[in-house]
Amino acid sequence: MSWLQDDVAVVTGAGSGLGRAVVERFAEEGARVVAFDKSEDKLRLLKESLGDAVETVAGDVRSAADNDRACARAVEAFGRLDVFVGNAGLWDFNRSLPDTPADELASGFDELFAVNVKGYLLGAKAALPALRASRGSLVLTLSNAAFYPGGGGPLYVASKHAGVGLVKQLAYELAPEIRVNGVAPGGMDTDLRGPAALGLADVAIGTAVPIDELMARGSALRIAPRPQDYVGAYVLLAARAQSRTVTGTVVDVSSFGTLPRHQG
Ligand SMILES: NC(=O)c1ccc[n+]([C@@H]2O[C@H](COP(=O)([O-])OP(=O)(O)OC[C@H]3O[C@@H](n4cnc5c(N)ncnc54)[C@H](O)[C@@H]3O)[C@@H](O)[C@H]2O)c1
Repeated sequence: MSWLQDDVAVVTGAGSGLGRAVVERFAEEGARVVAFDKSEDKLRLLKESLGDAVETVAGDVRSAADNDRACARAVEAFGRLDVFVGNAGLWDFNRSLPDTPADELASGFDELFAVNVKGYLLGAKAALPALRASRGSLVLTLSNAAFYPGGGGPLYVASKHAGVGLVKQLAYELAPEIRVNGVAPGGMDTDLRGPAALGLADVAIGTAVPIDELMARGSALRIAPRPQDYVGAYVLLAARAQSRTVTGTVVDVSSFGTLPRHQG
């Protein structure tokens, strides 16, 4: 049985890494998906791979108009919207408070929070009418850094903690029509970038950090996860029949909760 048969989703940051893996799995589960990303090249490759199951929208999650366009495309192309997955994000590559000049802290905060927090808020706002109509749900990508220190510097860790606040507050405000939940993955080798304001726009976690080695050695379950390893939680939360009673929660799939020291 397909858990998302005939459902329609918007996924932000869908061009690579976790977002792309969510799109692929949602399509396997019978959903049609609007893939929203700032990279036209990544979107073209995704469309070539998935064909009619996917519509693509190139845009910036920091823009209300671009979020509106992505949600409107879902309704125009597929007739409805059942789930909005907020996922596009930036990392701070563990830049610490002592090691970051004050002006970079300020501009780095503005850029990183604009993607990781404002982007989710604007996405939720854009999706609201269509999700009300379908009694659908929001699923937000958080991180081990939503619960524990050491998965980034203060900018990233604070932004992912803020994501927990968004899940709780939006679940409260949007009930009973719309369920709102989060997924907190741990580290994985992806194209995850950082703010240009910190000089981190052209480095990726997968190349700058030995993330597979860190995860295989340092995570509780001693595995180096692939993005595909984390997507089951998105399917579970998005599927109405499986999660009818679930809102305001974050599923921690990172395994970091069992570690004395939290990294990744
Ligand atoms: N990689 C990890 O170790 C890790 C760990 C925990 C959580 N996460 C979270 O997973 C999510 C996905 O990241 P990923 O690791 O798959 O990285 P990724 O870079 O492979 O995917 C993120 C996508 O978001 C897009 N994007 C970035 N800024 C955008 C913007 N302003 N507007 C539109 N699109 C934009 C990028 O083009 C990219 O395709 C993020 O929220 C990240 O914080 C990642």
